Amino acid sequence: MTDFKKALSDNADAVENELSELLEAGDGPERQLVDAMRYSVLGGGKRIRPFLVMEAANLFGVSSRSALRTAAAIEMVHCYSLVHDDLPAMDDDDLRRGRETCHIKYDEATAILAGDALLTKAFEVLASPETHQDANVRTELVLALAKAAGDHGMVGGQMLDLVAEDHDLDVPEITRLQRMKTGELIAVSCESGGILGKASVSARHALHAYAHDIGLAFQIADDLLDIEGDEEQVGKKTGKDEAAGKATFVSLLGVEQARDQAELLSRQAMEHLEIFGKKSDLLKELADFIVRRSS
Ligand code: IPE
Ligand code: IPE
Ligand code: MG
Ligand code: MG
Ligand code: MG
Repeated sequence: MTDFKKALSDNADAVENELSELLEAGDGPERQLVDAMRYSVLGGGKRIRPFLVMEAANLFGVSSRSALRTAAAIEMVHCYSLVHDDLPAMDDDDLRRGRETCHIKYDEATAILAGDALLTKAFEVLASPETHQDANVRTELVLALAKAAGDHGMVGGQMLDLVAEDHDLDVPEITRLQRMKTGELIAVSCESGGILGKASVSARHALHAYAHDIGLAFQIADDLLDIEGDEEQVGKKTGKDEAAGKATFVSLLGVEQARDQAELLSRQAMEHLEIFGKKSDLLKELADFIVRRSS
């Protein structure tokens, strides 16, 4: 295993433990809700957003406790977005992370509620003094995540994604869609490290530019996997985007050009990190991993 793969895997284990502690199973009649939340969050996923939080926080010497709780909160929002994305009213998928999607394992109402509760839980975690002793830092985290996840961010992007099924989009329109749908949550993962570490404006700008490029590259890679990926390895149904008439870089540019674009963005992302020197090596490797991954 390379040092990068080991770091990614160790980080995933740490975040898994944190998530498990934060989502304690209950025993009341509402127990099915927490079961569905735990099912949707634990036991899978590449944990890329938590890795970004941890590594960005590392650049500024943030305590691992603060970084881990922030990473877990952002992963909760990501998992909620997947639970809702898979619902019949949206992408109607029955396979996620190699297992049944939440609404298949439980039922649609439970999946909707589990998503709602994960979203809210994320903000509960961020707002807690255990995440950071400085209330200004906590407020900044809450504000940044709310913006990234809401109507100007992920949820807005999901709306565009649905609307686009009936419209042809050009490159700037698809860029905006993907930036909102996927890029904003990736960006706030990096940004949170800077917030926790009270980073300088120039450091935040560099992280932002890096996040912008990997966010787009990440969604292009996801769209390529939908076409070329092996279903078992990817852990979700493939070939769905074209069937649903989804607007993606691949649908517009074709496979070769979309791959070139993702690779260019990945190289560009690494250059933005130069100001951090060797401390950012793992973030650079992540930019490479994102476009070469097979799941
Ligand atoms: C899938 O995200 C959804 C997109 C935004 C493309 P990931 O590929 O990060 O999914 P997991 O967390 O590893 O399952
Ligand atoms: C979903 O994009 C992104 C979000 C959940 C916000 P996709 O619909 O392409 O993600 P997958 O392919 O189902 O993971
Ligand atoms: Mg979708
Ligand atoms: Mg989907
Ligand atoms: Mg996809």
